[in-house]
Amino acid sequence: MTDTRTPALEARDLTLAYEHAVVFEHLDLTIERGSVTTFVGSNGSGKSTLLKALARLLAPRAGSVLLDGEPLHGQSTRAIARRLAILPQKPLTPSATSVRDLVSRGRHPHQSLLRPWTTTDAAAVEAALAATGIAELADRDAASLSGGQLQRAWIALVLAQETPVVLLDEPTTFLDLSHQLDVLRLVRSMNAERGTTIVMVLHDLSLAARFSDRLVVLGQGRVLADGTPWHVLTPGVLREAFALDAMVIPDPATGTPLVVPHEPALRSI
Ligand SMILES: Nc1ncnc2c1ncn2[C@@H]1O[C@H](COP(=O)(O)OP(=O)(O)OP(=O)(O)O)[C@@H](O)[C@H]1O
Ligand SMILES: [Mg+2]
Repeated sequence: MTDTRTPALEARDLTLAYEHAVVFEHLDLTIERGSVTTFVGSNGSGKSTLLKALARLLAPRAGSVLLDGEPLHGQSTRAIARRLAILPQKPLTPSATSVRDLVSRGRHPHQSLLRPWTTTDAAAVEAALAATGIAELADRDAASLSGGQLQRAWIALVLAQETPVVLLDEPTTFLDLSHQLDVLRLVRSMNAERGTTIVMVLHDLSLAARFSDRLVVLGQGRVLADGTPWHVLTPGVLREAFALDAMVIPDPATGTPLVVPHEPALRSI
């Protein structure tokens, strides 16, 4: 049993790079168990890169990532997938696969020759289809879904995987506002009911503030700000991270920070 004081995830002295570009150097980050953390930052600031490294989809050039206190390298992919699920920014949808079969892939890490498909697996899949509101689409070909429906099917896969740690890269892209709220409420209830540790990437700063315990602002190859939404979302940080001139006021519905951009006078073009 993992010591509950051990962080769910820990990045130690991480250097992340692609062939010709270093994205982060000497990055340290700790994700506490049972927390909801959101990475924000401008396009290209490294949010997806960091998330991929936390799931071992990208090997660090230097440093290490620890899951439940154990280095990710040296662990089997199956062992990791039983404890950590990731929804990438651009998942590849397999062809000729029903929505139910796609969601069922979330159960693969739990199966083996000695433990074939069980009623527990089937129940997890049906519960995930229902929770994401796509039960009636279960028999459709996944490739035939709309962008938002497909996004919810991928979220259902992650939900069915029933891992203690879940990483979601822009889970609300393609969704209308009502479905964005559904997904973020679902994320919060996974956290509240199952104690799931969540790390996600979001672009909508006000929604990120509403649904996260902690925001990590990435930019200029480092962590620009890190803390509670009110601590992080200041006009100064918004200017530095997004070159955005904005005021931050309490959201009338929740009291969390609401980012309201200023509007410069209209220029003629
Ligand atoms: N496969 C790759 N090969 C080379 N460079 C890459 C690759 N993936 C990302 N990069 C570069 O690494 C940097 C960080 O990219 P990343 O995708 O992590 O940004 P992001 O913060 O997720 O952006 P977005 O908000 O647009 O999704 C960018 O400069 C990007 O061009
Ligand atoms: Mg990205």
